[in-house]
Amino acid sequence: MTTYSLLIKNGYVCTASDFYLADIAVKGDKIVAIAPEIDPALAERVIDAEGGFVTPGGIDAHVHVDEPARPFGNLSDTLQSASKSAIAGGTTTMVAFVSQDSADPGEESFAKVIKEFQDYGGKDLYSDYGLHMIVSKVDKTLLEKQLENVTDAGVSSVKMYMTYPGLQLRDSDLMTAMYNLRKQGITTMLHAENGDMISWMIDSLEEQGKTSPFYHGVSRPTMFEAEATNRAIVLSQTMDNPVLFVHVSAPEAFKRINEAQTEGLPVYAETCPQYLFLSEDRLQNCTHGDADSFEPAKYICSPPLRTSEADQAAVWLAIRNGTVTIVSSDHAPTMFDGEDGKRAAFKNGHNGEFRWIPNGLPGVETRMPLMFSYGVEDGRISVQKFVEVMCTNPAKLYGMYPRKGAILPGSSDADLVIWYPSGKYTGPATIQNKNLNHNTDYTAFEGFPIKNWPRYTILKGKVMYQHGKVLEETAGTGDYLKRGPSSLAGPQNKWLNQWRPHYT
Ligand code: URP
Ligand code: ZN
Ligand code: ZN
Repeated sequence: MTTYSLLIKNGYVCTASDFYLADIAVKGDKIVAIAPEIDPALAERVIDAEGGFVTPGGIDAHVHVDEPARPFGNLSDTLQSASKSAIAGGTTTMVAFVSQDSADPGEESFAKVIKEFQDYGGKDLYSDYGLHMIVSKVDKTLLEKQLENVTDAGVSSVKMYMTYPGLQLRDSDLMTAMYNLRKQGITTMLHAENGDMISWMIDSLEEQGKTSPFYHGVSRPTMFEAEATNRAIVLSQTMDNPVLFVHVSAPEAFKRINEAQTEGLPVYAETCPQYLFLSEDRLQNCTHGDADSFEPAKYICSPPLRTSEADQAAVWLAIRNGTVTIVSSDHAPTMFDGEDGKRAAFKNGHNGEFRWIPNGLPGVETRMPLMFSYGVEDGRISVQKFVEVMCTNPAKLYGMYPRKGAILPGSSDADLVIWYPSGKYTGPATIQNKNLNHNTDYTAFEGFPIKNWPRYTILKGKVMYQHGKVLEETAGTGDYLKRGPSSLAGPQNKWLNQWRPHYT
């Protein structure tokens, strides 16, 4: 008779606060014990971590996949293919996006698209997943009821845009939304770039014939991101509503977020590997209208890749000094070739102008290995910081802690990544698209040397991935997660003046 279904021996247990050598015992889907020495005879299966780090499974809280509404065109990953890619890269939970159907004004309309998404994509999954709701149309009279149905469905976060035609909300709509989101304890996620200024710049650049991919970056200066960030902080301060800025890339935006945090405001930031490892030189060397030199289009995302090593250093600093709360991938997989890919900018009479290039990069599989290799192995961040921003804080911010993002016996799901002991990684030396599991014909990180990659990924006590292979028979282990409210600091009951919401 065995007591445990799985025992991980000789691993360094890594949490957001500690790391220490211990054994981890799993029973069914839960972690049940951690001790310096657990008898292997008590377990059905024993994995020897050989002195490697054992971290919680990664949580990638920013993943776009194919969904019925398609606000970003046809994405090449389904929820299922993205979940396979996630598991292969050490991510055991994704939070994907479902979009409002802006033509449906019903009270049930948000809950309806959530259900549709689950029916559409939620089968044979390799990772667990939750959903954020994208709100692109605010109806003052309906929103409260629409949001109530969202929380009932286990969705506790809403993303809104300050840019992109069709998605961009005006400040008064953002205020209405925040007013209601605060009341209902829903986390507000904001894409902060000034859409009006960007539209003006795109028109102007087009008038000057400056339409190659390089000018995508020129049309979206760091100050446009910082302006929207500052404006949104004022909106959130007015409403006493916590906000999370997604995919922050601009040093000036980090500065403003850090100031707000220093003032004690509940302002949070997410960044992504592309802003740490890639820069705008990737967008160069494409001649206008030339389909053969269109390679730089692979790197089009918004906010755009920034200019210099100094910009990347500012992002690392923001991670180290606590300005950055979470690191996500912003996985937004468009193909390079094909009908719906980046080359779609040559369809419908267009000539490859950057305005028509679908935005976004794939990255759900490479997020954890890149951050572990260049962050932990190269000494830029501690392993505790790695766990904090990749696993624990996303779980806290999005209402999944301590079931997810932690290694707490009795409380946490047995979602674990066992890494190779330092210097003992034996897999491919560089990232190559041919080895990735996503449905996309390129990775923006092709050729990046890596020092480590998950040796085992375990979801709810089941080994899903080992020695470079996803175990196909584990499809279906992933489930939908109903999430609760954030456990990070919430509203402060501090107001700008005498104005208060009616419900306080
Ligand atoms: O370029 C990006 N980031 N595409 C995905 C949509 C978004 O704004 O996150
Ligand atoms: Zn965005
Ligand atoms: Zn995104």
